[in-house]
Amino acid sequence: MTALPLRSLLFIPGDSEKKLAKVAGCGADAVILDLEDSVAPAQKADARKRVADFLASAPRGADAPRYWVRINPLDSGMVLEDLAQIMPAMPDGIMQPKTNGPACVRQLSHYLDAFEAARGAADTATGIIAIATETAVAPFHLGEFAAAGLSRLTGLTWGAEDLATAILASGNRTANGDWMFTFQMARSLCLLASHASGVQAIETLHADFRDEAGLRASCRAARAEGFSGRLAIHPAQVALINEAFLPSVQEVHHARRVVEVFAANPGVGTIGLDGKMVDIPHLKQAERLLALAEAYGVGGV
Ligand code: COA
Ligand code: MG
Repeated sequence: MTALPLRSLLFIPGDSEKKLAKVAGCGADAVILDLEDSVAPAQKADARKRVADFLASAPRGADAPRYWVRINPLDSGMVLEDLAQIMPAMPDGIMQPKTNGPACVRQLSHYLDAFEAARGAADTATGIIAIATETAVAPFHLGEFAAAGLSRLTGLTWGAEDLATAILASGNRTANGDWMFTFQMARSLCLLASHASGVQAIETLHADFRDEAGLRASCRAARAEGFSGRLAIHPAQVALINEAFLPSVQEVHHARRVVEVFAANPGVGTIGLDGKMVDIPHLKQAERLLALAEAYGVGGV
């Protein structure tokens, strides 16, 4: 199995010493040290330095989170300054906001080639996660990721807040709390583009950070739809997200039975189980679920 999907990715404003101090023990699979929208323009220089210093002494290894940095957008004029400070401190990856399709990722990727060459560490290829729906034009480019051959691309995610601002929408949810149509569409296109490109599909954040029930329900829905992890903005969201993106014991049990019924009936492509048809796509799904469960030790696999 390739690298495990990142289930939870916790944003930490890069200028907050207090929040950076909470990284140790936060339990997130990845932290995203932010230089973009959570940092006021006057604090950018301070945040770059704090994040670089933090990275330089952060513990690495299986028990530590992966360290990602969200830089500023390409058209901000700040990207090279961000990378010049951050890259020597060896982040695992860069999150690129306000990405308008593969051309933007390719440009960032070239920058990373140069900064990696400068530090002489060719064996530690820096990943890229693109936030790929934050401008009005961005969703139109999602379909282009599949054929773009971007080897650093690790995941795609989507954002509803900046997109709302970009299209002069006064909100992004309907009265009953569902995403409005435009945002649903951007989300689904992002999900499809992720899978078409073979990278992780990462659900956007749940802004109401005290709403546990809403977070849990929307994580379950996201996982059922094909997302493998989610952005978090508050440490209290992390454990819930980690759990929600794992297979449940019942799912593991059912997947085992699917695998067993095919093993017991060699050469059969479709078969009945508990009065329902299962066929090859179900077998593939079951095998994938068991591999993830095994990696995380869920359900005694
Ligand atoms: N990372 C690390 N620590 C965090 C945190 C985060 N994302 N969010 C909150 N905390 C800490 C707080 O500093 C506080 O610490 P304390 O108990 O030592 O005082 C504790 O967790 C409880 O925080 P709480 O009072 O519940 O929230 P808050 O009002 O202080 O902060 C936010 C609310 C939304 C401002 C904060 O969660 C945050 O900064 N989130 C990330 C925002 C971000 O990066 N956005 C960019 C992506 S859209
Ligand atoms: Mg933003």
